[in-house]
Amino acid sequence: MLSSRMNDALNGQVNAELYSSYLYLSMSAYFEARKFRGLASWMRVQAGEELVHAMKMYDYVVSTGGRARFPAVDAPPFEWSSPLNVFENVYNHERKVTGLINALMDMAMAEKDSNTQAFLKWYVDEQVEEEESSGGALNKIRAAGTDTKAIQSFDKDMGQRKFKFPRGFVMFPYNQETTIGSMK
Ligand SMILES: [Fe+2]
Ligand SMILES: [Fe+2]
Repeated sequence: MLSSRMNDALNGQVNAELYSSYLYLSMSAYFEARKFRGLASWMRVQAGEELVHAMKMYDYVVSTGGRARFPAVDAPPFEWSSPLNVFENVYNHERKVTGLINALMDMAMAEKDSNTQAFLKWYVDEQVEEEESSGGALNKIRAAGTDTKAIQSFDKDMGQRKFKFPRGFVMFPYNQETTIGSMK
């Protein structure tokens, strides 16, 4: 059973993950408008993953007898000064989210809530990957500089990314007719 403080904190993180999804979808739209199809696709996959992060946490709250509550999701930025600036923001955003996850883990440890600690471990590992992939992308686009060919090749490479549901995660658990989201 979640403490009401832990329940509130997890609800706050669901909101933060939904904001992340909103942020990356806005970045996807920015790249669509600039005809960077690969980067738009990468950001769209990223937005989908953040939605899954939110749903996975929502499922945890619900399945542990907590109550999900949904405050407003902030509006994401609409414009960035350059593609490089977008990736600077992605990297900084992911580092911020890592801080949020670590704070949740600290709370679960302080409350001796081992169930929530075990649950959050997945997010801790996920943030390592998120920082690595966004940091790597930032380095590549920084290296490309103003070289149009290099930016085009970066765009193409980034477009190769495929969406994958986390192992065992089922997006629509009550609908037996569809297997969308089940990657068991
Ligand atoms: Fe996330
Ligand atoms: Fe993320």
